Amino acid sequence: MHFSSTSLVFCLLVFQPFVYGQLDYKFYDSTCPNLTRIVRFGLWSAMANDTRIAASLLRLHFHDCISNGCDASVLLDETSSFESEKDALGNRNSLRGFELIETIKANVEKACPKTVSCIDILTLAVREAVFLTGGSYWPLALGRRDSVTANITAANTEIPSPFESLDNIIAKFTAKGLNLKDVVALSGAHTIGFVKCFAFKFRLFNFSGSGVPDPTLDASLATKLQNVCPNQDDSDNTLVPLDAVTTTKFDNIFFKNLVNNSGVLASDQVLMTDNRTTALVVNYSRYPFLFAKDFGDSMVKLSNVGVITGQNGQVRNKCNLVN
Ligand code: HEM
Ligand SMILES: *[C@@H]1O[C@H](CO)[C@@H](O)[C@H](O)[C@H]1NC(C)=O
Ligand SMILES: *[C@@H]1O[C@H](CO)[C@@H](O)[C@H](O)[C@H]1NC(C)=O
Ligand SMILES: *[C@@H]1O[C@H](CO)[C@@H](O)[C@H](O)[C@H]1NC(C)=O
Ligand SMILES: *[C@@H]1O[C@H](CO)[C@@H](O)[C@H](O)[C@H]1NC(C)=O
Ligand SMILES: *[C@@H]1O[C@H](CO)[C@@H](O)[C@H](O)[C@H]1NC(C)=O
Ligand SMILES: *[C@@H]1O[C@H](CO)[C@@H](O)[C@H](O)[C@H]1NC(C)=O
Ligand SMILES: *[C@@H]1O[C@H](CO)[C@@H](O)[C@H](O)[C@H]1NC(C)=O
Repeated sequence: MHFSSTSLVFCLLVFQPFVYGQLDYKFYDSTCPNLTRIVRFGLWSAMANDTRIAASLLRLHFHDCISNGCDASVLLDETSSFESEKDALGNRNSLRGFELIETIKANVEKACPKTVSCIDILTLAVREAVFLTGGSYWPLALGRRDSVTANITAANTEIPSPFESLDNIIAKFTAKGLNLKDVVALSGAHTIGFVKCFAFKFRLFNFSGSGVPDPTLDASLATKLQNVCPNQDDSDNTLVPLDAVTTTKFDNIFFKNLVNNSGVLASDQVLMTDNRTTALVVNYSRYPFLFAKDFGDSMVKLSNVGVITGQNGQVRNKCNLVN
């Protein structure tokens, strides 16, 4: 058959994303037109039974992206050639949402086999999760590919810890091309979800050997938290809301809480005491739509950190296994 130069040009245009490996807003429009609907339905079904799942997916995505890029490496189980990032310090016994991503992936495979990557599914699910809990909505270019390996060392060293300084946390973000505004806006994710006593108990009883709680923690909140998280190891796994006021709603109350010393994590409350971040916290506490806009912008940046595109990586068949 004769292959004309017009059809060659046509092919190059149509397959441009595959050839050049960029992300594209229409990436799956012809290959999986119902993708967004399938992901949204999967999330809605899960939310009906477990409202925390929105927060858990948001954290799962952050931990995937901040350590060796958004590549679904965090979803992989251990193999003989690599350890699972699920066992990293900030991940073990606390990341949730793996089963839901696997369920949505299976539904996507039924509609469009071997087409949509696990990382695009996770990224879309997180966008839906924030919107469904009352937060903003952002446009997403797609075409990310899944990694063929995991790196537990990266997960151990690149995911921020609630025990470290703001300088360290900022450095971990800037290493990925994220700035100070991204740090503050993205920390607003702690407007939903839960935290174990373990992560903040050091603030409650004898803070830095002072004999009293952290002075930047509101005294009545400190008393409440002391009751929920008594000073014994067996309270370590007890869950407390990150935003006690509107725990399942994605709003700017988290920032209002910081303004009145009601942040649960020391690494969040410090945003109010450091002069590089205070003004932004105050602005987000006052202007909910400013927060919504900036959070969406920062999520787009986070979702594009270290992505694999084009012919690199793969589209996994199952999210916990390399093909
Ligand atoms: C800035 C540094 C950050 C630190 C130190 C930090 C630390 C933590 C800690 C310790 C928890 C509780 C985990 C547990 O006890 O199981 C948590 C929960 C959470 N984090 Fe962060 N985080 C940070 C940034 C982020 C970012 C950027 C996002 C998303 C954009 C995020 C989203 C969440 C969510 C939604 C939860 C609740 C998860 C659930 O209920 O399952 N965090 N974070
Ligand atoms: C998309 O979903 C609609 C409604 O469920 C269905 O009728 C249609 O066949 C689906 N299209 C494809 C290409 O799967
Ligand atoms: C509902 O959610 C819980 C976790 O909160 C899970 O253990 C359970 O299997 C879920 N039930 C259904 C029917 O999905
Ligand atoms: C894993 O991540 C660490 C820390 O970022 C890096 O130094 C190391 O080279 C990575 N290992 C591989 C095999 O890519
Ligand atoms: C608090 O910690 C300091 C230093 O570790 C210790 O000397 C002091 O006795 C502790 N105070 C209380 C009330 O436990
Ligand atoms: C802090 O602000 C929240 C509103 O964001 C309010 O509900 C809460 O009572 C305040 N706490 C204190 C101690 O003022
Ligand atoms: C912030 O505080 C530090 C130390 O307290 C000071 O050196 C610096 O000039 C301040 N920066 C701004 C922007 O106010
Ligand atoms: C906070 O908002 C005020 C008033 O709109 C603005 O002048 C200031 O630049 C903002 N600060 C930051 C850090 O965004």
